[in-house]
Amino acid sequence: MSDIGMDINWFPGHMTKAKRKIAEQISLVDAVAEILDARIPVSSSNPDIPELIGNKPHIVLLNKSDMADPKTTHEWIAHYKKKGITAIAVDSRNGNGTGEFKSAVISVLSDRLKKYEEKGMAGKKLRVMVVGIPNVGKSSFINRLAGKSKAKVENRPGVTRGNQWYAVDDRLELLDTPGVLWPKFDSKTVGEHLAITGAVTDRILDTELLAMRFIEILKAGYMPLISARYGIAELPEDSFDALCAIGKKRGMVIRGGEVDTLRAANMLLEEFRNCKLGRITLEGIDFSA
Ligand code: G4P
Repeated sequence: MSDIGMDINWFPGHMTKAKRKIAEQISLVDAVAEILDARIPVSSSNPDIPELIGNKPHIVLLNKSDMADPKTTHEWIAHYKKKGITAIAVDSRNGNGTGEFKSAVISVLSDRLKKYEEKGMAGKKLRVMVVGIPNVGKSSFINRLAGKSKAKVENRPGVTRGNQWYAVDDRLELLDTPGVLWPKFDSKTVGEHLAITGAVTDRILDTELLAMRFIEILKAGYMPLISARYGIAELPEDSFDALCAIGKKRGMVIRGGEVDTLRAANMLLEEFRNCKLGRITLEGIDFSA
C-alpha cells in the first residue's frame, strides 16, 4: 500500500519569492489580515507568517466558517485571543464577519489612530495586507469587502506598480498577498488535510487512503453526521471496511458484489467539500501538525 505523502519541498522557488515580496512590502501596511480555512487553521497557515509580519498588528480570519464546526471555530477564536491575536469567523461567500473585520482593524490600530489624530492626520488611510495560501478565499474576501474596485496606485510614492491594492472605503485599503504563498507541507497530516478540503489537488495522493483518513476524523467526532447522511449507525472499526460500508449504502457495487472503493472515496470527499455532510472541522485546538 503506498503511503500518503508529498514532497515537502514543493514550490521552493515560489515560496522564497513570496516571502521576499511580503518582507519588502510589509512596511507599506499598518496591519496584516491572515486568512485561514476555519476547517484546517493549522494546515492552511504558513508557519513563516509570524516572522514575516514581525510586530505589525495581526488579525486572523477564519474563513469558510459556514462549512466549519461552529463550536470548534469558537474555541479557535478563544485560543488566538489568549495569544493576543484578534480572530474572527468569516464567511466570504455571503459576507458574514466582514463588518466585524472592519471594526477589528480600527480596534487593533487604535494607538496609531490616536497618533494620527494628534498630528492632524485623522483622515489618513489604513492599509492592511491580506495574506493566505491559495484557495483559502482571499479573492472572495477582498471582493466581498471592496467589490471589484481596485485602488489606483500609479501615483503613490513607495508603492510598487502592479501591486494589488483595493479600496474598501475612503478609510481602508487592502493589499493582496504579493506573490503566491504556498502552504508548508511539513508533515504528512498537513498534506492530507489540505487535500481532503481540496486546497491542493488529490491527484498526487491515493484517494482511497485520503478518504480513509477522513473517515478516521469523522469517527472521532462526527459520527452522527455520517449516520444521518448514509444511514449507518456504526461504522466498522477498520477504515477500509468503513469506506466499503459507505459505498455499499450508495449502491457503488461492482461485479461479484465488490464495492467500487475509488468511487466511494471520491463521493465521500466531494460531499465533504460541498458541505453535504454538515459542518466539519478537521483540526481542533489540540491539533499539532
Ligand atoms: P483564493 O483567492 O485564496 O485562492 O481563494 P478564492 O477566493 O478563489 O476561493 C476559493 C474557493 O473557496 C472558491 O470556490 C470560493 O467560492 C470558495 N470560498 C471562499 N470563501 C468561502 C467561504 O467563506 N465559504 C465557502 N463556503 N466557500 C468559500 P470555488 O469552488 O473554487 O469557486 P466558486 O464555487 O466560487 O466558483
